[in-house]
Amino acid sequence: MLIGIIGAMNAEINGLKAVMKNCTAEKISSVEYCRGVIGVTECIAAVAGVGKVNAAVCAQTMLLKYKPDMIINIGVAGGLDAELGTGDIAVADSVVEHDMDTTPTGEPAGYIDGLERVYIECDRELSDRLYNAALSIGGLKVKRGVIASGDQFIASEEQRNRIIDTFGAIAAEMEGASIGHVCAMSGVPFGVLRAISDGANGDSPKNFLEFTEQAAKNSIDIILKLTEG
Ligand code: ADE
Repeated sequence: MLIGIIGAMNAEINGLKAVMKNCTAEKISSVEYCRGVIGVTECIAAVAGVGKVNAAVCAQTMLLKYKPDMIINIGVAGGLDAELGTGDIAVADSVVEHDMDTTPTGEPAGYIDGLERVYIECDRELSDRLYNAALSIGGLKVKRGVIASGDQFIASEEQRNRIIDTFGAIAAEMEGASIGHVCAMSGVPFGVLRAISDGANGDSPKNFLEFTEQAAKNSIDIILKLTEG
């Protein structure tokens, strides 16, 4: 069993690399892939860079080169659900590309050509495991639902409300759906777990800088739980 773990930024993955045993690293197309053992689990971890293209390149490379049995995307997100505060956890049941827009040609908002759908379902069993691992940490609110991804940092009520109203999302970030898209194209199970760093509103630029490190640590702690066996 080999689990692929992708984050966008160093803060979202370095804590895992730090505890990885028997680590071997290889750089492909500017991204470093670190393979080793976390807890009792074979893992391959990478920092993809921010945004959907970086994430897709990383996920596709990981699939072709290392053939993981599943991919988990972790990191931070802007919260879209009033119940989720800073550091709390959103686990995706499905993901959506909120900036995919071919509505002028008659398709629904977020429609993905090739997959012929708007929402990409996460692997149910993996999502259950992520949810239960998150609950077992204690002290964090954990919610499941739609996580929305796009090539935009959400920092206004207008952007925020559009994503909530159009897709019913509980969190916004910039990679999860593109990793889901890549995995769905190859039939590989995937899951997305995000810790809230900001409220996807006018305070987000400031809050993101202040709270990303602690929030990212929460998502790393959950992966450490999951991989401990
Ligand atoms: N990741 C963390 N906060 C975010 C936000 N407000 N918008 C997009 N991605 C994020």
